[in-house]
Amino acid sequence: KKVVLAYSGGLDTSVIVRWLQDTYDCEVVTFTADIGQGEEVEPARAKAEALGVKEIYIEDLREEYVRDYVFPMFRANAIYEGEYLLGTSIARPLISRRLIEIANETGADAISHGATGKGNDQVRFELGAYALKPGVKVIAPWREWDLNSREKLMAYCDERNIPVEKKKGKSPYSMDANLLHISYEGINLEDPWAEAEEDMWRWSVSPEQAPDEPTYIELSYKKGDIVAVDGQDMKPHEVLEHLNKVAGANGIGRIDIVENRYVGMKSRGCYETPGGTIMLRAHRAIESITLDREVAHLKDSIMPRYAEVIYNGYWWSPEREALQALIDTTQEYVNGTVRLKLYKGNVEVVGRKSDDSLFDEKIATFEEDEGAYDQKDAEGFIKLNALRLRIAASKGRKL
Ligand code: ARG
Ligand code: SIN
Repeated sequence: KKVVLAYSGGLDTSVIVRWLQDTYDCEVVTFTADIGQGEEVEPARAKAEALGVKEIYIEDLREEYVRDYVFPMFRANAIYEGEYLLGTSIARPLISRRLIEIANETGADAISHGATGKGNDQVRFELGAYALKPGVKVIAPWREWDLNSREKLMAYCDERNIPVEKKKGKSPYSMDANLLHISYEGINLEDPWAEAEEDMWRWSVSPEQAPDEPTYIELSYKKGDIVAVDGQDMKPHEVLEHLNKVAGANGIGRIDIVENRYVGMKSRGCYETPGGTIMLRAHRAIESITLDREVAHLKDSIMPRYAEVIYNGYWWSPEREALQALIDTTQEYVNGTVRLKLYKGNVEVVGRKSDDSLFDEKIATFEEDEGAYDQKDAEGFIKLNALRLRIAASKGRKL
């Protein structure tokens, strides 16, 4: 028997390696990916070796992550419950996919992860796994074992000689980070009235501490994806790395929300999504001049559904693929450049241009338009649109 574990190299998943070996008498394969969490992944190798793991996968998936998951999602302007840019949700399908591919390569029949039984992540990992390998077995230790407190976990480490490194400056929060965001949950945040402490935040300065001078930035789009920043071509993950720095330095991208988890509970979380916050604004701006009105509104109407599909863990599903196909076809002409002004936590769009622009100055002008638009046409347009309203009113219907 063999199981592939999503392994961070941290304490919890190290305990899981040993627990799987003990409880299931199985061979554990570890999979550790760099998706821009900002921690070295290579140290996971020595830790896994020390736990007797023979097949160790360590991969840099940053480019693939942003190109194939983050960027497609941003084409939709996806946002969950009006606030959450889905920073954790969108990283899960990639991890599920690799877990299953590695299971197939190594002949494993099971996968395992370190998500708790209370959250969204378990759902996302497992829905993805079942969709890609219907017969796969899933082992979720947090739903099975009784190591449900810090003390019990430590005692387990003591008994089995699992090294516990005391990292300096380790945050007490439950955190998850990748190139799109960093999340904080738990501790004092469990009281939705309690304000987050300033030193919790890691990727951004507070707006109060941000520079007194604005930063201008230009993002260039091709088919809805950013291909250059300030005229310089960049790969998808380079774009996001760069935007995170610039936006974070200007205090952009912090949110503090209570959201509805798929499993039914409300949870309070703080998220930092500096680059993503800019990307959403800029993408809407380039769409504002390049998309047809009805197409834009159609996209907007399916967006909450698309966001929910991703939040709930259905990236690998026929409905997500169908929605994605629609969204992607709308991006054909979403080309051009957006100019932004970043200042103390704010993102302002100050300019947009495109060779595929539908904006027609001749028609829109308040000055003489030389016959491009006949204002008299508006009279009949309004009258016919008012027809049903007038009929109802004339029949005495009250509003
Ligand atoms: N609540 C957010 C979500 O469901 C963030 C989850 C963070 N995950 C974690 N393992 N700390 O997407
Ligand atoms: C977890 O339960 O592992 C983290 C929170 C979540 O997945 O929603």
